[in-house]
Amino acid sequence: MLLRKIVLPLQTQSEGVLPMRNGALDEWLSQWSAKPCTAVRIRQAPQNEFSNFSGTHFLFICLITKFVDFNFIMADNFLEKRLEAYKVQSVAPKKKQQPNLAQLLKKNRSYRGYDASFVVRRDQLLRIIDVNTKIASARNQQVLRFRPVLSDEAAKILPYIKMGSALPALSLPQKGKEPNAFIVICSTVPETRNVSIDLGISAQSMLLQAVEMGLNGICIGAFDKKAVAQELNLPLEPLLLLAIGKGGEDIELKEAASGDSLCYYRENGVHYVPKLPIDELVIE
Ligand SMILES: Cc1cc2nc3c(=O)[nH]c(=O)nc-3n(C[C@H](O)[C@H](O)[C@H](O)COP(=O)(O)O)c2cc1C
Repeated sequence: MLLRKIVLPLQTQSEGVLPMRNGALDEWLSQWSAKPCTAVRIRQAPQNEFSNFSGTHFLFICLITKFVDFNFIMADNFLEKRLEAYKVQSVAPKKKQQPNLAQLLKKNRSYRGYDASFVVRRDQLLRIIDVNTKIASARNQQVLRFRPVLSDEAAKILPYIKMGSALPALSLPQKGKEPNAFIVICSTVPETRNVSIDLGISAQSMLLQAVEMGLNGICIGAFDKKAVAQELNLPLEPLLLLAIGKGGEDIELKEAASGDSLCYYRENGVHYVPKLPIDELVIE
């Protein structure tokens, strides 16, 4: 019988015995499933056999090559079951734990500084824009249109946006932290109250989608509409910009006490955003 022992960093352990973290088994199996073997046999060894490694799982792992006469059986049928489960799991896509709404809302801060090494792709902007196929719209008119702007064009509009007007001394965005992608939101009809409401719903939905994708953004209302329309050759009037990127700032929410200033501020490199508590918001 040809029995190949796994060559792993922990091979110095007693023969065939490898201490494993929870979850490490799957990593190793995926690594080894690429090798020419018919099967992986695993036995979970009782914790007390290796009490000096408490807190870890211990497994016997052997790889049996294609040429093996398959009579090398380890321990119990836990092994077969585990392997079957692994096969199913490796075919079915792994379910990613999705953040809940409260977590998305908390992360959805307005970033005025971005990681320049992260270049936003067109497919990412399109996925963000795609939320507009599912949101509310006054009389369902759906008058908003969206122009993705990527790194090849972003520099054209940077001179025409204003960020962080409450912190003029910082002249945000700082050099090297400028966003390299935008979504320009336009309307096919003149701006009305309903268009503005649609605009708000759209902007917030897109920013939440960005956050769900691990990105960040900010609404930019302070920009030179004419210049941006001209630079991008837009057929419609732009109403609002979203900058999109990987946020490169520490931002924290801070509960505002009654009468406090609601202006955002920075202290020791952290950007604080005061928010009113619920009892200030509810009308009794
Ligand atoms: C409609 C709208 C327009 C905004 N325009 C700008 C802007 O032009 N420049 C800027 O730095 N921030 C802009 N902001 C971001 C706000 O300043 C930001 O939402 C506020 O400071 C609260 O921070 P938070 O979004 O992290 O909660 C805008 C936000 C909204 C909703």
